[in-house]
Amino acid sequence: MRLLLGLLVAVIVGGAGFLVYAWKPSIDPIEPPDRASFDQALIEEGSRLAAVGNCTACHTRPGGRSFAGGLAIPTPFGTIHSSNITPDPATGIGDWSEEAFNRSMREGVSRDGSHLYPAFPFDHFTLVSDEDNRALYAFLMTRQPVEEVPPANDLPFPLNQRLVLAGWKMLFLREGPYANVAGQSEEWNRGAYLADGLGHCGACHTPRNALGAVRAGEHFAGGEAEGWAAYALDANSPAPVPWTVDSLYAYMRQGWHPDHGV
Ligand code: HEC
Ligand code: HEC
Repeated sequence: MRLLLGLLVAVIVGGAGFLVYAWKPSIDPIEPPDRASFDQALIEEGSRLAAVGNCTACHTRPGGRSFAGGLAIPTPFGTIHSSNITPDPATGIGDWSEEAFNRSMREGVSRDGSHLYPAFPFDHFTLVSDEDNRALYAFLMTRQPVEEVPPANDLPFPLNQRLVLAGWKMLFLREGPYANVAGQSEEWNRGAYLADGLGHCGACHTPRNALGAVRAGEHFAGGEAEGWAAYALDANSPAPVPWTVDSLYAYMRQGWHPDHGV
């Protein structure tokens, strides 16, 4: 009896704790800000950062308008469609404040308080600084608004319940922003910030566990991207010739290097 009672208390306390963790408030909608209210230099910085984060690749469907979403992203759990992140107030993020945008990047939570699927790589984007999020926000809020609702996701129960994602986050999300690693150079920290944050290299180059989370202990040990092998970038690299600063630079810039191919 005492054991049962203990269990019951544990379940209630645990459940209440989970709900406190899982509940996120809605952030009030705003009047879509005027384009002229954003600084031009900030918009340009945001454009560069959006390229690093490759936002357009996931947020533009083939033949679709830029950033209007609707791209079907296959996952081992079902199909998730990317959101419309143009500044259309009804179907995009036009009525999102900077605070709401910052929270979506840092915590993977939509403006209305619902949890987002990690098909949106917020487990990496969480490292992005408030300052860089401000630039990304300025860039996105000054794009062409497109009125378009992405198709519904195709996920089985209970994965179609967004509350489940709070459990996933409890287990796997280590919230940012990025903190410099002491003893490493400024250049090294800048690289780690870009690669692990906006660049989300590990989303493809790190293996994932059964729940679809990247294995923290196997950083860059090689993963998979839609059927393509994303080779190891750590000591297990299969490259027959070791990578150098110059070959990596050329490969990233041109998608080709004589020692490493296409
Ligand atoms: C690997 C694919 C991928 C990349 C890259 C990506 N996103 Fe997304 N994003 C998604 C998906 C999928 C969703 C929808 C998640 C959901 O419905 O739970 C989403 C949702 C969002 C949302 C929430 C919108 C809403 O209405 O709740 C924002 C904001 C967002 N992305 C911004 C960005 C920005 C900014 C970038 C680039 C820095 C980016 N995304 C890059 C896949 C991606
Ligand atoms: C959307 C998935 C994805 C992301 C994100 C990604 N990569 Fe890759 N990467 C791949 C795939 C797939 C390949 C293999 C391409 C091929 O087979 O030609 C690859 C290849 C590479 C290679 C060549 C490896 C070799 O041994 O030939 C390097 C280097 C590399 N990526 C670096 C990066 C870096 C750095 C980042 C982050 C800035 C990054 N990748 C982000 C999917 C990705």
